[in-house]
Amino acid sequence: MPDATRVLLSCAVGFEDLVRGDLMEQYAVRSRQVGPGQVSAEQLPPVLNTMIDTVALPWDGNPADLRALVTPLVPDVLGFRVQAGDPVLREELVKTVVAATGWVNRPGDWQVNLDPERELVEIGPLAWAARFGRMRRLPATTPPAVAAGLVRLAKLKPGMTLLDPCGGVATIPIVDAIERPDGHAWSIDSDNAAVTDATANVADRDLTDRIDVRRGDATALELPDLSVDRVISDLPFGKKVGSNQENRVLYPAILREVERVLSVDGRVVLLTDDKRFFEQAVQRARGLKVVTQRVVRYNNVTPTAYVLRRSRKPRR
Ligand SMILES: C[S@@+](CC[C@H](N)C(=O)[O-])C[C@H]1O[C@@H](n2cnc3c(N)ncnc32)[C@H](O)[C@@H]1O
Repeated sequence: MPDATRVLLSCAVGFEDLVRGDLMEQYAVRSRQVGPGQVSAEQLPPVLNTMIDTVALPWDGNPADLRALVTPLVPDVLGFRVQAGDPVLREELVKTVVAATGWVNRPGDWQVNLDPERELVEIGPLAWAARFGRMRRLPATTPPAVAAGLVRLAKLKPGMTLLDPCGGVATIPIVDAIERPDGHAWSIDSDNAAVTDATANVADRDLTDRIDVRRGDATALELPDLSVDRVISDLPFGKKVGSNQENRVLYPAILREVERVLSVDGRVVLLTDDKRFFEQAVQRARGLKVVTQRVVRYNNVTPTAYVLRRSRKPRR
């Protein structure tokens, strides 16, 4: 029999230690990293935080074990699918699973995804979108589990104010609102489509009191000096959005505004794949310094999340 007590939790590559730290600190659940973006936990924690993307169970490939393995997490399996590259293997496994479990093969609407190659069973109702709801997305939208890692790095406390000056569809402020009981956030973006989707995403979750979505320019923010406790943003990398050439101008201008609006003890988390320009811009900005950084990987990009603080007292 497979070890039914362990669960496999996935997150963005680069945030495994944060997921593991939270499991131990909040729920005394021991875990270990078993691969990039893969954490094996000794049991399912009572709450799955927003950094956890998918939940799976180790499975030895034996269809006879499936019902006992899955039923504690999904009492009534309405549909399953088999994720296997080899179509012959897939068809054979579908037949044996139907015979062993009575489940229905529904590749387009499944609760259980059998992955014989990775030897696991993914539990659909515990995936991010099933737990927190689907969001409207644009091509450059930050994956929610990545946004969650950035939010975690920012160390937001109740009552603090958050700004995402390149907020897109408001993923970062929404993830923050899911995790944090109270606070206020601004999601600002210069793109009309992003603002429309952000407004809908925020309204769908009844978060209009908490998140103020505005069309605006990250380089000329309509916010007072020293008014924001935390700034978190997934900046344009110059690939899907903007260009490396534009970033030469954009990054220094954004950093100037971030420094202006940031509170004295403020903390900033900025994600970018255009690392050279970003690091040059920080050095030139002088008023902010990088205190820590980590490389993240998702969707074939490996950006760095930079955590910044003030390097000097703000000028009045
Ligand atoms: C990587 S995307 C951010 C994705 C966002 N976190 C989300 O989940 O949708 C970068 C965003 O920066 C916006 N942007 C580019 N230049 C800007 C500027 N000067 N002011 C405000 N937003 C800007 C783009 O419209 C884009 O939505």
